[in-house]
Amino acid sequence: MIPLAQMAVEVLGTADPRAKTDLSRTHAAAWLDARADGTLPEIGTGTPPDRPARPDRPELLHPRDVPRRKPGTPEGRIALLHAVAHIELNAVDLHWDVIARFSHVPLPPGFFDDWVRAADDESKHWGLMSDCLQAAGSHYGALPAHAGMWRAAEETAGDLMARLAVVPMVLEARGLDVTPGMIEIFRRAGEDGAVAALETIYAEEVAHVAYGSKWFNFLCGRDNLDPRPTFHDLVRTHFHGLLKPPFNEEKRADAGLPPDFYWPLTEEA
Ligand SMILES: [Fe+2]
Ligand SMILES: [Fe+2]
Repeated sequence: MIPLAQMAVEVLGTADPRAKTDLSRTHAAAWLDARADGTLPEIGTGTPPDRPARPDRPELLHPRDVPRRKPGTPEGRIALLHAVAHIELNAVDLHWDVIARFSHVPLPPGFFDDWVRAADDESKHWGLMSDCLQAAGSHYGALPAHAGMWRAAEETAGDLMARLAVVPMVLEARGLDVTPGMIEIFRRAGEDGAVAALETIYAEEVAHVAYGSKWFNFLCGRDNLDPRPTFHDLVRTHFHGLLKPPFNEEKRADAGLPPDFYWPLTEEA
């Protein structure tokens, strides 16, 4: 078995989305099986690429140039599934990137277990969205997608606490806020396959936010930092824009994210 950081670099370096997610799941299973057997395989170190390898399609556009379609139409629902597929593929890379990029930081093995699990979930989520797109007569790559998805990774490449604050605790938490509304759109349209897929994603995303807050709090405790002001400072420095209510306060609470973490970030400092 190759060291974990090397597995991460391999996934990041794979461009084809099906090949990337398959490799991600194979590597995750190897790591998690070994851990379930009570062993600790080598984490090693690895140099992740500045940007992960991506397929030629979808075409990546500035968010302003990505055409908006009404969710009340079949085309609008395909565009929504496509946007979620794009987010999931990006999330696969984000979770492997945190493993490789911060593999030199001394951390308990449970840190790596959590992000391997999250990467495995995202790989499955991409597959679910890809299947829904195919059932609707489309596929991932058929539409243009958001070009700015790797920005959060670049902004936080030098700071693990900033990475945890921005990626799981801001961006993935945002997913908890918006997914119920998305599920409702597909429910009203009678698209049960998409409803089931999005419900799986919604249920599993809570854990990713929880991994973020768990390890953020761990690092604060290790460095004797007060988590709440530290979170606010890091988000204000590394994330551009204010957080937007309404928040899914219940799921955020399940994920260990209290209101006094996010509400102050809805306003300028
Ligand atoms: Fe996901
Ligand atoms: Fe996630």
